[in-house]
Amino acid sequence: MDDDTELVATRPADEWWRSAVIYQIYPRSFADSDGDGIGDLAGVTARLDSLADLGIDAIWLSPFYRSPQNDAGYDVADYRDIDPLFGTLDDFDTMLHKAHELELRVIVDLVPNHSSDDHVWFKEALAAAPGSAERARYIFRDGRGPGGDLPPNNWESVFGGDAWTRVTEADGTPGQWYLHLFDSSQPDLDWSNRWVHEQFIDVLRFWLDRGVDGFRVDVAHGMVKAEGLPDWTPAEGAGSMGGAGGVSLSPGLESEAITQPDTPPYWAQDGVHAIFREWRSVLDEYEGDRVLCAEAWVDPLAKLALWVRSDEMDQAFNFTYLETPWSAPAIRKVVDDSIAAFSSVGAPSTWVLSNHDVVRHASRLALTAPNPQGAGVGPRSAGQPIPELGLRRARAATTLMLALPGSAYLYQGEELGLPEVVDLPDEAREDPTFRRTGGEKYGRDGCRVPIPWESDAPAYGFSPTGASWLPQPGEWSELARDAQAGVPGSTLELYRAALAERVASGLGTGALSWLGGFGDSVVAFVNAGVTVIANVGEIPVELPIGEVLLSSEALDGATLPPDTTVWLRTE
Ligand code: GLC
Repeated sequence: MDDDTELVATRPADEWWRSAVIYQIYPRSFADSDGDGIGDLAGVTARLDSLADLGIDAIWLSPFYRSPQNDAGYDVADYRDIDPLFGTLDDFDTMLHKAHELELRVIVDLVPNHSSDDHVWFKEALAAAPGSAERARYIFRDGRGPGGDLPPNNWESVFGGDAWTRVTEADGTPGQWYLHLFDSSQPDLDWSNRWVHEQFIDVLRFWLDRGVDGFRVDVAHGMVKAEGLPDWTPAEGAGSMGGAGGVSLSPGLESEAITQPDTPPYWAQDGVHAIFREWRSVLDEYEGDRVLCAEAWVDPLAKLALWVRSDEMDQAFNFTYLETPWSAPAIRKVVDDSIAAFSSVGAPSTWVLSNHDVVRHASRLALTAPNPQGAGVGPRSAGQPIPELGLRRARAATTLMLALPGSAYLYQGEELGLPEVVDLPDEAREDPTFRRTGGEKYGRDGCRVPIPWESDAPAYGFSPTGASWLPQPGEWSELARDAQAGVPGSTLELYRAALAERVASGLGTGALSWLGGFGDSVVAFVNAGVTVIANVGEIPVELPIGEVLLSSEALDGATLPPDTTVWLRTE
């Protein structure tokens, strides 16, 4: 057994993040204070009260750093400053202070796999000669073929097209190529270079010193590439970020799941673990429990669990769970596998259903054709979502998720039941995926539309001028937060009640045991003394006698309708 497969379980068990509900803010679409149509940090500060009121424990903010915004801020030009679009470092400090006053922890996004081509590190690399120390910060290689005219290998960008771009050298001749797993404006850093490690340790300290509670680490599974950068051809229809990917999320379409036969040379390489150990020791120098959460699309879960051994990261997003179809046997299996894998290293599982990279679960759970991660849904897509069914399943799925022991991640707007916006006009779309695939893949704009706060205000209260960087649908007025607040049965009130009961009953720190006897289409378990029953099938299910603590839909007497989850106290 080599070092990387040895499982350890030596963590203390009382850190806040073990059972926390963490709410993802996508700053450009959350709340806009200055009226330019793009959300900002002052907007976040102004709306923090409503998040505290929802009952979450922490926020994670997607990037707000200086950036040309070619990938909505995941192309960072300065890791230590705020983009003027979002405000200033003072605005950040004000936001952090207010969040802490409200007892909300704050997690920021760290993007270490690549920088922007606008970063001074890359500009200096371009200006320097091949073989220089500046070029060694990134992955520059000579091309193949006569004159080096062909890219160094066959890798494709996650967003479509080649993963290599050729540069023009200072003397005007065609020169070396640089690697970019994402857009050509996002050159990959070379993590075999010690200099890169030192820069990011400084970046960690910069934000830790300001008082952040942790980091969500972007593309944590991509930072180290296999020696020699060998060619690799992904399976047909594979999800763009690795892992099993390619899974359709509607029942009956599960057989479309694609499993990669081997590990691609740019995902999930063992060398990443040494980086995380180094970061862990930096975080451990700081007071309090500072958290590291990996964005790592890695299968199987037993392999992903290696990311969260006690001397590495604390959490990893459970994308296997996110990609599980709405099918009771599949849900039972992924919950079992998750708890077994993560507990074998002493870590809690995380649970997540939506984020800024996937089709919102209120649409995804009722798609009528397979939809690989990253593909998105647009007006010309086969298999359009069925809205009413999607919302019903989403409410049931969330009610199930929030009863599971561990930490749960929510994505802004899901507490309003927002669907994916399918009918965005082509000219409004900004995801590089849409451009780089010539419109073949719609990409992720549909889950990024600015969220509605007030039904009768301009841009539904997102922005004082009514401006919105992506157009909001006409029918969102009834989904606005103020239209749902205090309305029994609304999705907002369902989330609020679930979060309160989760804390009251201790569901986040409980231990789960399965309940049988409800048939194959039902997921039923007891956690922390609460009986949780999700009807994932098409036939109503008779409920045991008990007090109803929460139900994702109105109950029909003592029966649980299809696509509904209930929490009961029996005895
Ligand atoms: C992560 C982010 C995604 C971004 C990509 C490149 O997957 O979540 O939004 O496009 O990394 O940074």
